[in-house]
Amino acid sequence: MKPSHKLLFVLCLVLVLGYIYYSSGKLHLHVWGQKPQIELEPTLIVLNISQRPTEVDLEPTLIVLSEGQRPTELEADIALTVGQTVGSAYDKQGFLQKLDGKLPAELGRQYVNLTEGMCRPGYAAGMMTAIYPKFMKPAPMFLDRNFKRLAKVSNYLPPFGFKTQENIIDNILTTTKYYGLGQDLDGLNCKKCVIVGNGGILSNKSLGPRIDDYDVVVRLNEAPVNGFSKDVGTKTTMRITYPEGAMQKSESYEKDSLFVFSAFKPLDFKWLKHMVYNEKLRVTEGFWKSVARHVPRKPKEMRILNPYFIQEAAFQFIGLPLNNGLMGKGNIPTLGTVAITMALHNCDEVAVAGFGYDMNKPYLPLHYYEKVKMSAIKESWTHNISKEKEFLRKLVKAKVIADLTNGI
Ligand SMILES: *[C@@H]1O[C@H](CO)[C@@H](O)[C@H](O)[C@H]1NC(C)=O
Ligand SMILES: *[C@@H]1O[C@H](CO)[C@@H](O)[C@H](O)[C@H]1NC(C)=O
Ligand SMILES: *[C@@H]1O[C@H](CO)[C@@H](O)[C@H](O)[C@H]1NC(C)=O
Repeated sequence: MKPSHKLLFVLCLVLVLGYIYYSSGKLHLHVWGQKPQIELEPTLIVLNISQRPTEVDLEPTLIVLSEGQRPTELEADIALTVGQTVGSAYDKQGFLQKLDGKLPAELGRQYVNLTEGMCRPGYAAGMMTAIYPKFMKPAPMFLDRNFKRLAKVSNYLPPFGFKTQENIIDNILTTTKYYGLGQDLDGLNCKKCVIVGNGGILSNKSLGPRIDDYDVVVRLNEAPVNGFSKDVGTKTTMRITYPEGAMQKSESYEKDSLFVFSAFKPLDFKWLKHMVYNEKLRVTEGFWKSVARHVPRKPKEMRILNPYFIQEAAFQFIGLPLNNGLMGKGNIPTLGTVAITMALHNCDEVAVAGFGYDMNKPYLPLHYYEKVKMSAIKESWTHNISKEKEFLRKLVKAKVIADLTNGI
């Protein structure tokens, strides 16, 4: 072979191998990627109840749901796609209208031998699926080196995905090296998680010991533990935060907790890289308030929260405006709801504390650690608190999550 032919041959080989590698990646997407889109004609529909339909084997059948009958996942899915006519048992978001909090029979059978208070495997996901049949549990908590396979987030810009940030994330993850909760927690076959919100509603309830009893304690932003442990506990498994929300004083960080980063804009990843490499942060333009300049955590104690939870909370659970998949007015869920969404996918039981406000008592503090009153609450441009609360209420009413402070 002439050298130029040889070169051409090698080039072709590389292209072919590259393509095979690329398509194998695509195939993996479906592990927890987008469900195949099923194009349905309007009105009556479709399907053979015994199996999940694929594009090729849809068969017209009519589903009639009688009141009180719990539809199978598939029926519900279709009913949702068709619209409100067939699936009147479901609301616009796809949640069952009638939420009674009853344990589905199959879960009841599974838990028959558990003593009261023991961790019930699969409880949160099972209860969620009962009221929201579209729920698909698998969604990793943190990004790992295979993050590009996560189909649902690869096509969205932050905060709903990681598009345009792949290289910097790759770089960060190479250094952080760890992508789970740690051996002990990852090894549990049943995990109870509590998300501790920052609400003043936590004050004077002495819930600390109860919170510490959970396997995983999630705290948000700068919410302190020191000085408040009677009410909020002492344990912190992870603290989820973003640049403007992160604690600015190094001494405020508790030992042995994971620093979990949640990005809301592309610039946030750049900030994280500086924190991971302990580099001096020179430019702080683009942040909406001052940001932490140093995070006293080793790279192996840092994680990147899967942005899927922001996307799913916003567009599927709460029903915020899609805005072409871009951040816009009132379409960003609060970090607390993002954390709950993460827990629904990754914990067997989920509880929350410190969520919600009692608007009838505007003199109470907004946060448990500040004097700011609730009446100071401002109309938020980014969040839609009332729509978000509707979603959280469904979870509490259906007993998918337990609300330890009864604020939701
Ligand atoms: C519950 O315990 C009984 C008696 O030990 C046993 O026969 C049964 O299989 C157990 N059920 C489950 C679901 O583990
Ligand atoms: C909690 O108790 C302390 C001391 O009794 C009191 O000063 C404070 O106002 C209480 N806070 C709330 C929110 O009730
Ligand atoms: C929240 O959602 C409601 C209902 O969709 C809408 O009327 C309201 O304007 C939204 N608020 C914000 C801040 O976007």
